[in-house]
Amino acid sequence: MGQTVLVDQAFVQPQEHRPKTVVSDADDIPLIDLSLLSSDSDVTSAPETLLAQVEAACRDWGFFQVINHGVSPELLRKAEATQREFFALPDEENRKVRQDEQNALGYYEAEHTKNVRDWKEVFDIIAHEQDEIDVVGLVLKNKWPQVPLGFRETFEEYAKSVEKLAFRLLELIALSLNLPPKKLNIFFEKANSLLRLNYYQPCPNPDLVLGVGRHRDPGALTVLYQDSTGGLDVKRQSDGEWIRVKPISNAFIINVGDTFQVWSNDKYTSAEHRVSVNSEKDRISIPFFLQPASCTNVRPLEELTDEKNPAKYNEYSYGEFIRARKDGNLKKLEVQNIQIDHFKRAQ
Ligand code: OGA
Ligand code: NI
Repeated sequence: MGQTVLVDQAFVQPQEHRPKTVVSDADDIPLIDLSLLSSDSDVTSAPETLLAQVEAACRDWGFFQVINHGVSPELLRKAEATQREFFALPDEENRKVRQDEQNALGYYEAEHTKNVRDWKEVFDIIAHEQDEIDVVGLVLKNKWPQVPLGFRETFEEYAKSVEKLAFRLLELIALSLNLPPKKLNIFFEKANSLLRLNYYQPCPNPDLVLGVGRHRDPGALTVLYQDSTGGLDVKRQSDGEWIRVKPISNAFIINVGDTFQVWSNDKYTSAEHRVSVNSEKDRISIPFFLQPASCTNVRPLEELTDEKNPAKYNEYSYGEFIRARKDGNLKKLEVQNIQIDHFKRAQ
């Protein structure tokens, strides 16, 4: 049975990676209420039950949602409205702040994941600008559009507020691994954290393409806001099924990235995920990627390895890892782009 293909061939996923029309959402990812955390920045008072929930979620899913997280709903509304305004502008306007080979910040519409083009547009913002060129040769200065008015102020405020939450989660996850809560903070002193605005247009062939192809996030953890459309699918550990993450108003979706998988020596999972699109509604999402400094060498933490549980990964440079990834994402390459499995030791 043929169907009319209306999208460019560059977007078409190989048969085995196309989204199935129906994705079961009977068993959703865990939902964690953070209201039990006291509002100051000390997480040591977190109750055991909360730590147990975090531990189980990071281990069994690598994904969870949080509510009562301290980021104001008004700020979420403002960010969503501003983001929609920006992507509704004519292409020429968006392209005034387009990314290039030296500066990977700003607007971009041609990203590839695993060599297939994603059905999306993005706008990337670095949380902390840096004067020097990054160790891997990238300029880390934001490009701000003139319109919509207030764009810069809104996303600076948003990044600050969400980064605070990301650090509390970092500390909570450290505690759930029996580490001192601030043990990992040292890796984020010159953090490479990135705020990304995603825009997914409606697509005439939603069953052939993906908004973002299947991938794992390279950083420590991701704090993602999504609107009410839905489309984020997570690969369930237990059976490899793709599960649609239900939009919950004012919640954030948290996922453990590759860095935590390596630090925890595979106790915690960096789960594969992707974005499905649909033919009726557009969708926005805002991931904040908490990423270590480029100069960080990532390897399993000494506290979490011993003779019985030897390190499963060789050390790698975080900066070089994301640089290699980024090259693969900007354009189509003939080779598979780099994954942490590359650093896995033979057991
Ligand atoms: C990403 C991603 C998910 C989403 O940008 O890395 O996984 O829901 N996005 O947009
Ligand atoms: Ni992702």
